[in-house]
Amino acid sequence: MGKNILVLTGSPRKNGNSDKLADAFISGAQQAGHTTVKYSTADKTIKGCIDCQTCFKHGTACSIPDDFNTLAPLIEQADMLVLATPLYCFSFPMQLKAAIDKFYAFLISQTPLKIKESALLVTGGSKDKAEYEGIVQSYQLMSKFMQWTDQGVIVVMGLHGKDEILATDGLSRAENFGKSIV
Ligand SMILES: Cc1cc2nc3c(=O)[nH]c(=O)nc-3n(C[C@H](O)[C@H](O)[C@H](O)COP(=O)(O)O)c2cc1C
Repeated sequence: MGKNILVLTGSPRKNGNSDKLADAFISGAQQAGHTTVKYSTADKTIKGCIDCQTCFKHGTACSIPDDFNTLAPLIEQADMLVLATPLYCFSFPMQLKAAIDKFYAFLISQTPLKIKESALLVTGGSKDKAEYEGIVQSYQLMSKFMQWTDQGVIVVMGLHGKDEILATDGLSRAENFGKSIV
C-alpha cells in the first residue's frame, strides 16, 4: 500500500533548484504508488515557537494563530516526511526552521505521529561538502530523536542560478530516490 508522503519545501524562490528537486522526488514517489503532499513553508506565515507550553490546549496545535495550524493536520496524516530546501547560512531557511521548531507541539502534548521515515533534499551554492554538515547533521539528529528511519540525504552542490540544477544529475537522483521508496 502506498505511503502518504509530506514534502516540506523551504525556498522562497518559486521553481528554483530545491523546488525542482522536490518535484523530481515527488514524481518518482508517485510512480512508486505513493501519495504526496507538497507544502511550501515560504508561501505561508509560520512564526517562531514562543515556548508558551499551550500546544493543543486551546483547540489548535499551536496557540499562535498562524499557518502552522493548517500544516499540523498534514503532519499528523503523514507516514513519511521529506525536507526539500536550499542551504541558508549553513542551515535551514527560517520559514522551514519555524515549521520544524513547531514539531515541539506534538512532543510536549504527546500527540503521536505516524511518521516512520524521513529524507532530506538540499541544494546550495558552495561546492565544499563540509559546508553542508550543519544542515545534514541537524536533520540526522532530528530524525534519530523522532525515531524516524532516515531513508537518505541528497545534496546537490554548486547551484546559484535558479535553473542550474538542470545541468546536474540531481533531478534524476531525486526521481530515482522517490521511486525507491517502498
Ligand atoms: C539568504 C541566502 C543564504 C545562503 N546561504 C548559503 C550558504 O550558507 N551556503 C551555500 O552554499 N549557499 C548558500 N546560499 C545559496 C543557495 O543555497 C543556493 O543558491 C540554492 O541552490 C538556492 O536554492 P533555490 O533555488 O531552491 O532557492 C544562500 C542563498 C541565500 C538567498
